[in-house]
Amino acid sequence: MKRFFRTALLLALGLPLQAQQAASPPRTTIASAADDPKMTGFISALMQKMTLEEKIGQLNLITVGFDVTGPVISKDVDANIRRGAVGAVLNTFTPTAARKLQEMAVKETRLHIPLLFGYDVIHGHRTIFPIALGMAASWDLAAVERSARVAAEEAAADGINWVYSPMVDIARDPRWGRISEGAGEDPFLGSQIARAMVRGYQGPTNDLSRSNAVMACVKHFALYGAAEAGRDYNTTDMSLPRMYNEYLPPYKAALDAGAGSVMSSFNDINGVPATGNKWLMTDLLRQQWGFRGFVVTDYTSINEMTNHGLGNDAQTSALALNAGIDQDMVGEVFLRNLAQNLKEGTVKQEQIDQACRRVLEAKYKLGLFQDPYRGVTEKRAKATLMKKEYLDAARDVARKSMVLLKNRNSTLPLRKTGTLALVGPLANRQHDVLGSWSAAGDWKQAVSVEQGIRQAAGSAVKVLTARGVNLTDDAQLIARLNAHGGALDIDPRPAAAQIEEAVQVARQADVVVAVVGEAQGMSGEAASRADLGLPGQQLALLKALKQTGKPLVVVLMSGRPLTLTWEDENADALLETWFAGTQAGHAIADVLFGLYNPSGKLTATFPRSVGQIPLYYNHKNTGRPYLGVQLEKYKSRYLDEVNDPLYPFGYGLSYTTFQYGKPQLSTTTLGPTGALEVRVTVQNTGSYDGEEVAQLYIRDVVGSISRPVQELKGFQKVFLKKGESRTLTFRLTPDDLKFYNQDLQFVAEPGEFQVMVGGNSRDVQMTTFTLAAQ
Ligand code: BGC
Repeated sequence: MKRFFRTALLLALGLPLQAQQAASPPRTTIASAADDPKMTGFISALMQKMTLEEKIGQLNLITVGFDVTGPVISKDVDANIRRGAVGAVLNTFTPTAARKLQEMAVKETRLHIPLLFGYDVIHGHRTIFPIALGMAASWDLAAVERSARVAAEEAAADGINWVYSPMVDIARDPRWGRISEGAGEDPFLGSQIARAMVRGYQGPTNDLSRSNAVMACVKHFALYGAAEAGRDYNTTDMSLPRMYNEYLPPYKAALDAGAGSVMSSFNDINGVPATGNKWLMTDLLRQQWGFRGFVVTDYTSINEMTNHGLGNDAQTSALALNAGIDQDMVGEVFLRNLAQNLKEGTVKQEQIDQACRRVLEAKYKLGLFQDPYRGVTEKRAKATLMKKEYLDAARDVARKSMVLLKNRNSTLPLRKTGTLALVGPLANRQHDVLGSWSAAGDWKQAVSVEQGIRQAAGSAVKVLTARGVNLTDDAQLIARLNAHGGALDIDPRPAAAQIEEAVQVARQADVVVAVVGEAQGMSGEAASRADLGLPGQQLALLKALKQTGKPLVVVLMSGRPLTLTWEDENADALLETWFAGTQAGHAIADVLFGLYNPSGKLTATFPRSVGQIPLYYNHKNTGRPYLGVQLEKYKSRYLDEVNDPLYPFGYGLSYTTFQYGKPQLSTTTLGPTGALEVRVTVQNTGSYDGEEVAQLYIRDVVGSISRPVQELKGFQKVFLKKGESRTLTFRLTPDDLKFYNQDLQFVAEPGEFQVMVGGNSRDVQMTTFTLAAQ
């Protein structure tokens, strides 16, 4: 199977079969500690006592509670736990609920093996931080790590020991709703964020036995973000160099940081679904990368291999185990089939043992055999959950995540005087600001934009409100959103009447703030969109408001890049706030009134139109790049659209302005073991203090394979007082220039390189250097 798959891949790539050897990059070692002999001895002794059924039980994860994302709900929960047929539980939290099940496992099963408690803690547990795409836009690794630490402390206090995060799928297609859950389109930034998240969850020493650490689960392995046409769960098909260079680095980075577990993805990869893909789960993950933790499937993804066309339950069960899967999420395929698979010889005892051992090792590392309850009590939970310092951290990260896309005539920050018209279907929504996957976040404790603005404005500003339009008028979509907790209340009046009401309100005001965008359920899982404009009549509302001639500030909420050409041309200010979490309203008010000067930068390109997708900054040049000469026909371009995005990767404005000097190099020839310093002076030339994210990109001008026109290789977030200037130093070594070549060797190839520095990927200053051969 392994040889077959690799051979098929090589053939598909047009690689000669002799390249088979070379196509296995050298094994690297994961930073996690080698096996602890005490642990090995303990688990061996325990496994000696285990029956086959009990071993298979450890490979079974059930869902108890809510939040199910698939058709299957676990049955016979108590009986299965008591007979040792359950290794882990998903969706159960609170000290009382978790303890009840843990006691069942520890006191009532034959061998007293504790359970893992997993949950989708993605951007906070009770205190909800901005969605991951928003947090990434902060380019602030310490803030991102802090968010994961707060989430870990809350989740651990609430009975959880395992979180299904970080989600590190590179995504270049904003039609895919799950772009909201990751760090965006760039492997370099994505890798740094992946590491920061793992450190936050597991702690700096990866000592999972500390009662406030939780085990991370890197997902979705792999390439889930490359689903064709941006449609969720769809197929991926990708060359190996693209995988290794562009999509795999963040998974590897999270594992190098010590993440204890991996979740397989739903998608098919070059013909074999990830969950049954031995090349992926064993050759790459275990042999090349040296991963020693355990792999859980995504929700019922073994069962789904039947729909993929890989066989019935019995066949997919064997396929998954043989591929290297250790635990079956909710599908109970292992539970129903492995014993029979063993009898029939389609799986081996060693494989069941190995999977069981890996799950038990995770439990051991979490200290569950010593204290299955990890000191969880209602009292500790009460003292921990939603502490003031956590709320402050959420507000801080939320402010940092917002991206100012437009600010004509310094419309923002708003002055605290006069009359403000606050309109739009998201202006008073507490539900939506939490975003998708808001774990145990309680919308009633979330701050809406209206609440935030009223509190910030006090009596100094008169605030008038009108909704303007419903968020969408697609009845089916509303029904679906509401069936999954959307709680949209719909105004039955025609849109025209609602818009007229909002226009009347706007006419009485000095400035209009329109809060528009997506409902929280319009991004995330199973939320792909083919049209990326504002849903429903929201654009019509903005157009009517514009007609009043009042300054129009558009506050956007979305889980993805949207197409915003009208908004870009017509809004006086445009602020992307994503779904900013529990403290959203306060954070948005802080930015609108200038208590915080925005510093976020996009980590996913905003296209002008859906037809440009996939659109990403680190693309290839092609043989016929379009250089803007209109009459040239045979160029890589569209007849009816430009190639450029509306807002490029790395883009974001501030209330102040920054000017970059030309980058200076310490040498123009970099030796194979040397280092190069790139110095650039950044000056705050505007009239506010502010933070800037200085970004460094390279281009490998000549390579043995075509190379991207730009690749991010460094960034620094700096605070500069108005008028202040600072020289920043970036360091590049030949290691930073390495990439996987056609034979998947990780090499830096001598020759010319461009180095570009600027405040976004488009507005850069460039210079060149040479990487010497000797
Ligand atoms: C999602 C995962 C999630 C799992 C458990 C799946 O549908 O794809 O991201 O961790 O459900 O809730």
